[in-house]
Amino acid sequence: MDRYSKTRDLLQAEPKKWLITGVAGFIGSNLLESLLKLDQLVVGIDNFSTGNPDNLAEVRELLSVQQWNKFAFIEGDIRNLPDCQRGCQGADFVLHHAALGSVPRSIEDPIANNDNNVTGTLNMLVAARDQKVKRMIYAASSSTYGDHPGLPKIEEQIGRPLSPYAVSKYVNELYADLFARTYRLETVGLRYFNVFGARQDPKGAYAAVIPKWIAAMIKGEPVYINGTGETSRDFCYVENVVQMNLLAATSVLQDNVNQVYNTALNRSTSLNELFFMLRERLLPHYPHLENCQPVHREFRTGDVLHSQADISKAEHLLGYSPTHTIDLGLDAALGWYIREHSMNNSHR
Ligand SMILES: NC(=O)c1ccc[n+]([C@@H]2O[C@H](COP(=O)([O-])OP(=O)(O)OC[C@H]3O[C@@H](n4cnc5c(N)ncnc54)[C@H](O)[C@@H]3O)[C@@H](O)[C@H]2O)c1
Repeated sequence: MDRYSKTRDLLQAEPKKWLITGVAGFIGSNLLESLLKLDQLVVGIDNFSTGNPDNLAEVRELLSVQQWNKFAFIEGDIRNLPDCQRGCQGADFVLHHAALGSVPRSIEDPIANNDNNVTGTLNMLVAARDQKVKRMIYAASSSTYGDHPGLPKIEEQIGRPLSPYAVSKYVNELYADLFARTYRLETVGLRYFNVFGARQDPKGAYAAVIPKWIAAMIKGEPVYINGTGETSRDFCYVENVVQMNLLAATSVLQDNVNQVYNTALNRSTSLNELFFMLRERLLPHYPHLENCQPVHREFRTGDVLHSQADISKAEHLLGYSPTHTIDLGLDAALGWYIREHSMNNSHR
């Protein structure tokens, strides 16, 4: 049996208590769904700044009453230490995902970025330490590689950050490492590379490329590519991210803890390729896409040109084995976006 199946069996046999920060967001709500399906006890914190109560309502619909009743929600803010202390009470593991995402948002408002992502994470580390949490897994980011030209990205080789967001995510790693050495708090950072899947917000100026393009294609609006489209990313379906969180939280080998791990596929997809992958999948449902072509515009400040992860560290130490390629992930995610769009059209 593979490590992930074993991990899930063990958790189901001996349920734990988890805190998820950012639980009403995209990744947080997917973690919630998976943990409750494994009969875990979960506390979630969110201030709904970018998250949405609909994400929680949707998870509720996917579960039995017994499973849902193992969830307690705190509407709170990680910039407020007492909220963090309350959330961590009695928790075995923390999956810290609350943050303000998006490189351009951080360039527009570096102070809000710092408050939420740096001060918020520091509060969470202090609370996890004080409440004697077993281990805190936190969402790090591929943006930490900054201007380092090496490909694929190896955890030990990083460059200079290209945005306030990248600085904040790197500072999270520095603090986590410091808390491990100074206070013996166990931490694991997961450097996510362009995660996608159900419940990722397609709306607003800061939406991620996959949900934004799907929404634009469905509505027949222009699909913008910043730059030539040869920019590439290592797109990672959210189920793989869930797997990494569970493996990182439960790994028993001390050498595997107080580390950071790339979380992706080690597969590079250019934006031009992505455009055609999405169009091909949507075309049978939306014939108006027959002649749809992308509109090119200027490259965005703060973005990196290419991003692809070496995932061998996670494979060797944690037993990570991604279940979803980009194709499988897009097939799964697309169904959700199509349903979402048709529901929005019929209800609103
Ligand atoms: N999605 C990606 O591709 C990706 C890539 C790299 C890193 N990450 C990191 O993963 C984490 C989750 O990202 P996501 O894509 O699910 O984003 P998201 O915006 O959907 O979720 C973040 C959640 O955190 C909540 N939040 C923000 N500030 C808060 C605060 N001060 N107090 C309480 N709650 C707060 C938001 O309301 C939201 O529900 C973030 O830390 C993000 O930086 C995501």
